[in-house]
Amino acid sequence: MENKVAKKHLITAALPYANGPIHIGHLAGAYLPADIYARFLRMKGEDVAFICGSDEHGAAITLRAKKEGTTPQAIVDKYHQLNAKAFSDFGIDFDIFHRTSSELHHKTAQEFFLELDKKRAFTKETREQFYDDEYNQFLADRYVTGTCPKCSSERAYGDQCENCGSSLNPTDLINPVSTLSGKTPVLKETSHWYLPMEHHERWLKEWIENGTLDGKPHHNPKEWRNQVIGQCKSWIDGGLHSRAMTRDLDWGVKVPTTDGEGKVLYVWLDAPIGYISATKEWAAQNNKDWKEYWQNEETNLVHFIGKDNIVFHCIIFPILLKTHEGYNLPVNVPANEFLNLEGDKISTSRDWAVWLHEFNEEFPGKQDVLRYVLCSIAPETKDSEFTWDDFQARNNSELVAIYGNFVNRATVLVNKYYEGTIPELSQNNYPEIAQQLKKSASTINEKLTKMQFRDAQNEAINIARLGNKFLAETEPWKLIKTDPEEVKNILHLSLQIAANCAIALAPFLPDSSAKLTAILGLGSLNWNDLGSTQIVAADQQLGKVEHLFQKIEDDIIVKQKEKLNSKTKPPAMETTLPAFKEDIVYDDFLKIDLRVGTILKAEAVPKSNKLLQFLVDLGSERRTILSGIAKHYSAEEMVGKQVQVIANLPPRKMMGVESQGMILMAENEDGKLSLMQPDQSITNGSSIN
Ligand code: 2FM
Ligand code: ZN
Repeated sequence: MENKVAKKHLITAALPYANGPIHIGHLAGAYLPADIYARFLRMKGEDVAFICGSDEHGAAITLRAKKEGTTPQAIVDKYHQLNAKAFSDFGIDFDIFHRTSSELHHKTAQEFFLELDKKRAFTKETREQFYDDEYNQFLADRYVTGTCPKCSSERAYGDQCENCGSSLNPTDLINPVSTLSGKTPVLKETSHWYLPMEHHERWLKEWIENGTLDGKPHHNPKEWRNQVIGQCKSWIDGGLHSRAMTRDLDWGVKVPTTDGEGKVLYVWLDAPIGYISATKEWAAQNNKDWKEYWQNEETNLVHFIGKDNIVFHCIIFPILLKTHEGYNLPVNVPANEFLNLEGDKISTSRDWAVWLHEFNEEFPGKQDVLRYVLCSIAPETKDSEFTWDDFQARNNSELVAIYGNFVNRATVLVNKYYEGTIPELSQNNYPEIAQQLKKSASTINEKLTKMQFRDAQNEAINIARLGNKFLAETEPWKLIKTDPEEVKNILHLSLQIAANCAIALAPFLPDSSAKLTAILGLGSLNWNDLGSTQIVAADQQLGKVEHLFQKIEDDIIVKQKEKLNSKTKPPAMETTLPAFKEDIVYDDFLKIDLRVGTILKAEAVPKSNKLLQFLVDLGSERRTILSGIAKHYSAEEMVGKQVQVIANLPPRKMMGVESQGMILMAENEDGKLSLMQPDQSITNGSSIN
C-alpha cells in the first residue's frame, strides 16, 4: 500500500564549538554533505528537520577565553554570530542553528540527566584526578597535556590524542602538565557520575555489527561507512570502560542535584542533547511536535559528523538515548575522513585553513564553486586534499566549461533563433537522450540515498556533459541553414537537458540552480521531474540569459596562496624546532646510561600504527624496546641497524608490552624521525659519552 504520509527525517550536523570560525575542513566533513542530503530529501517532498547549533561548553571554550583574556560568554557570543552568518551566507540551510548556552538547552540537558540518574544509568564514584593547586582547579580533558601512552605523541590532551585518535583519561598521560600553570599536577580525590559503558558492550555490538536493536532489525549495517563500523568495532573489541559524565568546572550545564554543587555536565553529555533542545526550539517556532522527530520510530535519525566524533555519536550518545528510553537511535552516522589543505593538515592554531567567513567575503557569489569543489573531493572514504589550483581548475574546466557552457550555448541559440520562446518538439529523433536522462536520474537518486555525494554530483554534471555532446553532434548552428525544423527539436531537447541539470544539481549548487530555473522560465523545481523530457513547455518564454559561472583568473589564486603562505608557514626555525632547554649540571648527564645496540628482531605492534617492537642486543643482555617510528621506518629495514639506546630508564608499558629502554632519534621540524647511527661498526653495549 502507498504510504501517503511524507517520511520524516531528523538530520543533525555536529554542533561546532563556538571557539573559532568554521573552515573548509568542517564544511567538507559534516555541514556540506548534511546540507546536500537535507536539500535532496526536501526536494523529494519529505519531512525534514535539519538541526545544528553552537556547542558552547567545555574546555575548548574556557581555554580560548583564557587565551584571549576574555570571558567564555564573550567568546561564544562572538563565534556563534560569526558562524551562524557564515553558514547562512554559504547556503547551509539549517532549519535551526541553536545554542547550548540557551536556557531551553540547560533545562533539557538537566532533565535528561535526571531521568538517566533515576534509571541508574550512572555510578557515582570518588577517584583521584589531576588538580592544579596554583589555580585551585581540577584538570579535566584539555586542561592537561602530556605524552600519549599509546603512540608516544607528546601533544596528547587529557581526553584524546589527536595523533593516534585514542580516547584517553587525563591520568593515562605520561608526563602530564597543567595547561593553566604549566606545572605537573597533583592528584586529589573528587566524586563524579560515571557512565559504565562496559555494561552496554553486548547490545552495542549487535547494533553496530548486525543493525539489530532489542532483537529487531533497526538499520542496514551495509549502508554504514566501513571506517565508522571499523572504529566502533575496535572500541568495543578493545573493551569499553566507565567514563566520567560530570566535571568540576563552573562553565557548563550545572549538575541538577544537591550533591552536584560546583559541578557541570561533561560537554560530550550535554552537546548531543543539544540536538534535542534545538529540535524543541525549532518545533515550538514552527508549530511542530518535536517528539515526532525524536520518538516516532518511523523517523530516520542521521548524524553527519567528522571522524573524530564517531565514538560520541555511535557509542556514548546511543547508550544515553537507549538508557533514557523512548528515543530513536541513528539509522546512519555518515562520518567523513579529514580534508587536508595544500599538503598539510588543516590547523586552527597554526592558521592553516581557508576560513568560511573570509571566503564568503572574498568570493561573493561564488559559494557554489566552493560547494562544488568540496563535494568533488569529499573525504568520504579517505582523507583528501584541497588546493587552490584544483579549485581554479574545477571551476574553469568543469563548472564554466561544461555546465555553464552548455546552458549558455542552448539558451543563447533559443534567444537568437526564436527570440527566447521555447521551440516545440515536433518529432523526437533522439530517444537515447531520454534514456540517458532516466539512467542518470536513477543513479543520482541511488547515490544520494546511499549518501555517496561525490558520485552523485559527478553524475549530475554528466547530464551537462550529455548536453554538450548532443549539441556538438547535432550542430544546430550549422543545421539552421538546411533544416530549421530539426533545430527546433534539438533545442527543445537541449532545454529539457538543462532543466534536468537544474534539478539534479539543486542540492549541490543551489544558487546556480535558482539562476537556471529563472533562465528557463520555470517557477520551481520538482525532484520527481528528474529524468523527464517534459519539464520546460514549448511556447514559454525564457528569462534573462546570464552566465552561471565566471572563469577564475590566475591572480586570484596566486593571492590566496600568498595569503595562506604568509600567515601560516613562518620559517621552520621560528615555530617548530623546540626551544633549547635549561642548562643542566654535568653530573645529570653522567646519570644517563647511553649504549650502542644492534637490532636483532623488529616487528609491528598490533593495533598501533606508530610503534615498532625491537629485540636489541646490548652486549651483556638483550632488551625488548618499543619505539614510535613505524611511520618512518619499516620493521624489515630496522633489522641489523646499530642504534643509540638509553639503557637506564624505568621500564614503560605501551600497548600492553613493556619497553626496556629508548632508542634515540632526531626529529626535524616537520616531524620526520631519523635514527642516529655510529659511522662505523661498534661493539654492542659500548657506552656513549
Ligand atoms: O568536535 C566538535 O566540534 C564538537 N563540538 C562536536 C559536537 S557534536 C554534538 F554532539 F553536539
Ligand atoms: Zn596517541
